[in-house]
Amino acid sequence: MRVLITAGPTREAIDPVRFVSNRSSGKMGVALAEAMVGRGHEVVLVHGPLAVAVPAGVVAVAVVTADEMYEAVAVWCMGMDAAICAAAVADYRPVRVAASKIKKGEGRMVLELEPTRDVLGSMRAGMGYGGVLVGFAAETEALVANAMGKLRRKGCDLVVANDVSREGLGFEVDRNEVILCYADGRVEELGEASKGELAGVIVGVVEGLVAGVGGGG
Ligand code: CTP
Repeated sequence: MRVLITAGPTREAIDPVRFVSNRSSGKMGVALAEAMVGRGHEVVLVHGPLAVAVPAGVVAVAVVTADEMYEAVAVWCMGMDAAICAAAVADYRPVRVAASKIKKGEGRMVLELEPTRDVLGSMRAGMGYGGVLVGFAAETEALVANAMGKLRRKGCDLVVANDVSREGLGFEVDRNEVILCYADGRVEELGEASKGELAGVIVGVVEGLVAGVGGGG
């Protein structure tokens, strides 16, 4: 099958030397890409600045900002059997990007932010994507309820939920513990494992969804 995967953080510029971003390393999305390639699938990896290498055998599309990720996904999602949005896309970006480095002042400084576009949330209606759609939900409370809300709002078939408040799991590290939330309300807890092991399980689940739903966008 053909799979689109988004991975990593995005960066939203404040001035030529500063940006707003988050702690995502891209490890989970890259592990998913590796597992997909290992199973013989064609992978397009749309990624922000990664802390790990892009795996061999994928078509890599490098972006920096949320807006660039949106445009790349809109182009590449067509005809995909599955799309997995593991990227930690910035929800806000600075309203103004200073053309030159902002100099230090005496008092406080206020950074005004505006919302970015929701990439995953635009794939069904905005981009007309019709394949299997998988989202991630990074939560610090009410994990399953929030993940199910995201699944419905964004038109997903599956949301991979993880509790990012847990020490040693999730952001930046190699291990994670996730709960799979399905569109029919089913919930499946995967125990703590390496991101590679979890990716293997998730790839199997996505293969099943594609086989059941049919594919093509
Ligand atoms: N996502 C996206 N584009 C955005 C924000 C999020 O594609 N601008 C995707 C992420 O890749 C992930 C899912 O939406 O698959 C959920 O991301 P998350 O940060 O958990 O949720 P948000 O929708 O940003 O909601 P909140 O920050 O309020 O929890």
